[in-house]
Amino acid sequence: MRVAVVGATGAVGRELVKVLEERKFPLDELRLYASSRSAGKTMSFAGEQLTVEITPEGPIPADIVLASAGGGVSKKLAPLWSSEGAVVVDNSSAWRYDPQVPLVIPEINPEAVQQHQGIIANPNCTTAILAVALWPLHKAFKATHTVVSTYQATSGAGAEGMEELLNETRNYLDGRPVGHKVFQHPIAFNVIPHIDAFQENGYTREEMKVVWETRKIFSEPEMKISCTAVRIPTLRAHSEAATVIFEKPVSPEAAREVLESAPGVKVVDEPEQNRYPMPLTATGKWDVEVGRIRRNLAFDNALDFFVSGDQLLKGAALNTVQIAELLL
Ligand code: A2P
Repeated sequence: MRVAVVGATGAVGRELVKVLEERKFPLDELRLYASSRSAGKTMSFAGEQLTVEITPEGPIPADIVLASAGGGVSKKLAPLWSSEGAVVVDNSSAWRYDPQVPLVIPEINPEAVQQHQGIIANPNCTTAILAVALWPLHKAFKATHTVVSTYQATSGAGAEGMEELLNETRNYLDGRPVGHKVFQHPIAFNVIPHIDAFQENGYTREEMKVVWETRKIFSEPEMKISCTAVRIPTLRAHSEAATVIFEKPVSPEAAREVLESAPGVKVVDEPEQNRYPMPLTATGKWDVEVGRIRRNLAFDNALDFFVSGDQLLKGAALNTVQIAELLL
């Protein structure tokens, strides 16, 4: 089993290499690729130093390619690599909405992997973190309406986004002009209700990704979902506040019981002990934290809950490696 990580030097790529090692993915050879900027750098994997190579624009010597170098690279190169026999698990949004390409969260629709024709898409990080918690509740009580607001870390914009938060914070504290480059406005000491491009319907593309992708992963093409996506000045792990109306009778106790036995989630819900999901506690964890589970006061038979998940892990690298494990 020869595995290639494309975009290995990026925020997600580095996590991919770590997760492959931590989960002891059974590989015979690992090759790391990035742009020419990184060629020759070394990265450690399982006690060895591997040299980063320039991403090939032709055949790639791998059986499985884990790609996280952006949509442009995936759009252009994934078909080339898969036509040469590799299976590409793609972390960009380039292929997610293609009906021929399975969009997979292993806890939800592992069977979709079997339909692949050489490319499998990994969902958007915000979608994945909500979906692992929403799916068991949907299966048990049938969600009819979901409204979610997100609190997204700067790592969603890659290593550059995290760097920008740190630099702006230093500038602010040192009394220098804060500046900004990656985000539309300064992110230090701010929140920005704008992630990805605005669409004709007034939503951003990030918000619509949650709608389109949840529907595809759940095989619920008409599911009613609305999202407001907000960037906040944290380094890592996304949080989301969800309000869900259910068809079948539901209670916070019943929901907690369902979530406690669901894969990929951890119930953290002891408000009297000040224990609830937070980016700081969710960072570095494979499970998505779920808590603040309570009856919604505005709608009948509805719950509110809060999730925090490491979007570089469940929202990206971990889910990608879990998909590759299904291929084995
Ligand atoms: P590099 O570090 O050489 O620029 P992030 O999402 O954190 O910004 O990371 C993006 C990843 O994708 C990095 O590993 C980056 O490599 C890689 N990358 C960006 N553009 C290209 C490209 N045109 N070809 C191959 N890899 C690319």
